[in-house]
Amino acid sequence: MTVLDIGAGQNPDPRATETVDLHADADHEFDLNEDWPLDDDYATGITAHHVVEHLDPHHVMQESSRVLQPGGWLKITVPLGIAQRTDPTHEWFPTVESAEVLAGEFSEDRHWDPDVPLTLEGVTLDVGFLGPLTPLSPLLQACTYWWPVWAADKADRGEMRLHYRREHDD
Ligand SMILES: C[S@@+](CC[C@H](N)C(=O)[O-])C[C@H]1O[C@@H](n2cnc3c(N)ncnc32)[C@H](O)[C@@H]1O
Repeated sequence: MTVLDIGAGQNPDPRATETVDLHADADHEFDLNEDWPLDDDYATGITAHHVVEHLDPHHVMQESSRVLQPGGWLKITVPLGIAQRTDPTHEWFPTVESAEVLAGEFSEDRHWDPDVPLTLEGVTLDVGFLGPLTPLSPLLQACTYWWPVWAADKADRGEMRLHYRREHDD
């Protein structure tokens, strides 16, 4: 079983058997925005915690689907909310809609090309409201379940966890 933690930094996921990062302490030292020097079907799982927002997300999805074995899993955690938009190291700003867009599943007319053989299996949101909205935070947090795009977009801070599965070849 090979589980890669991409962009592991100094805080590798305990599920990971191998780490990837730009620094030399990682098991694999390479730039995730370039072609990954890993064989097809190399990994059973990939975890990406607070790194995809620093990268070209389309490239990450393509390379993950190539490197994952059919049936393998990809778990991505990205920050949500207003606070993340002030971080100049972020290349793009995830929203709830990003979950489907990343796998090319958003809709017929807003489709990324090329599609990737990854199916979105789950989205978990964890958002918080600070400042003047703090007293209403529990209520607004509940809105996340009923009105996720609005609530996650208005949150001050938060996280979205995305779970994808590599499709089986025909
Ligand atoms: C915000 S840190 C997250 C670290 C860790 N996953 C965590 O959650 O604590 C982002 C990590 O991604 C790595 N990283 C950023 N861009 C990268 C790239 N193009 N290729 C490889 N690693 C990259 C950085 O070196 C850093 O270790």
